[in-house]
Amino acid sequence: MKLASRRMIAVISVAALVASACSSNATSAPSGGGGGGQTAIEVVSWWTTGGEASGFNAIIDKFNADNPTLKVTNSAIAGGAGSNAQAALQNRVLAGTPPDSFQVHMGHELLDTYVTPGYMDNLDDLYAANGWTTQFPKGVLDIVSAQDAAGTTHYYSVPLDIHRANVLWYNKTVFTANNLTAPTTWDQFFTVADALKAKGITPLAVGDNGIWANGMLLESILIGALGADGYNGLWTGKTDWAGANVTTALTTYQKVLTYVNTDHSSLSWDQAADYLIPASAGAQPKAAMTLMGDWAAGEFDNKKFADYGWIAAPGNDKIYDALADSFGLPSKATNKDGVKKFLTILGSAAGQDLFNPYKGSIPANSTAGTPPSGAKQYSTYQTWAMGEWKADAIVPSVEHGAAAAPKWKGAFEAAVTVFVATPDVATLQTSLVQACKDAGVCK
Ligand code: GAL
Repeated sequence: MKLASRRMIAVISVAALVASACSSNATSAPSGGGGGGQTAIEVVSWWTTGGEASGFNAIIDKFNADNPTLKVTNSAIAGGAGSNAQAALQNRVLAGTPPDSFQVHMGHELLDTYVTPGYMDNLDDLYAANGWTTQFPKGVLDIVSAQDAAGTTHYYSVPLDIHRANVLWYNKTVFTANNLTAPTTWDQFFTVADALKAKGITPLAVGDNGIWANGMLLESILIGALGADGYNGLWTGKTDWAGANVTTALTTYQKVLTYVNTDHSSLSWDQAADYLIPASAGAQPKAAMTLMGDWAAGEFDNKKFADYGWIAAPGNDKIYDALADSFGLPSKATNKDGVKKFLTILGSAAGQDLFNPYKGSIPANSTAGTPPSGAKQYSTYQTWAMGEWKADAIVPSVEHGAAAAPKWKGAFEAAVTVFVATPDVATLQTSLVQACKDAGVCK
């Protein structure tokens, strides 16, 4: 990773840990339920669709086949970006009955919600045994770890993938047939969108039955308007939320929302992505573009839809809006040895090369990237993304838990929810200014 990517870390600061967070106090009694003498390991994710479910099931099946006395089950809770799973997980962790492991984004979501309050065991032994401190990039290691009061670094989750949130996907045939070029600026986007509208095609498919998808649109527009440093500064207090560049971004956002499908609030992200897929060969799809993280590539590939093109979101070229899914070890997990075995495959190059080709993401483990021949390979999109990850400035996604504390993300989403219903730029900006103050980051 380039120097610029370290900015991702700069926005995350973690206070000294509650010392007891590191102590292992749970029993190792098997939770049973696996049948046939197997010990059950309950894992919770929000991967229920397309490439997400296929990829996770592939790794679980491999683990279960290799470990006949253990049985991992994926108790998935539907809802993109963890919009339902995260609340359910927090309730279980607070109640002292967590699953054995669960999906959690690296950065603030992991550290603020679970690590700092002391709900997770550290995984220092796994990191040491597997050489992960040299295999995961420094920018990743820094936001899956925290220091204790004595200044010693401890690792708390195992990143399975790296996703890019700021990608514009489009139907290639629609663009070619209408002599259109994928837009690299929002002004170009509006020209393209007007041409598509005139042809009766919805320009931009949005599925925000979970508001995060709309918030992610704003996230990309802010990145485009402010650049990597300016966007990072929003989360550290260096960039003024009341500033003119933010007003420009919000005005662009207001206009972009006039080009989306009318049924956006009843669709999930994947239903919106599917609007790019024609109902039958040669038919016109419902929409021409969608702005979504690269799990959309997994969705398209899973649906055998190959006619998609991609480009960085307008104004976002060479800026990688990053997030990672990771899995950790709750202190109250019932079968810690089994979980550690499972986490070992999740972090390994072999496990990452099994999972990520389905998922649309790239591996977090830098020694991964070449699945064995005969296995599912990385797609053209993923090969492009691997190159961008090494070359781009990396910024943290707010909607996927990396940029801001969960409460601040909640306030950001509340402001977006109001705006989508009543798109008033001044009201939105006032709410965003206040949200930064309430987070204790702005004065
Ligand atoms: C993200 C998650 C991705 C994908 C996406 C849609 O938060 O990191 O892996 O699942 O949500 O659900």
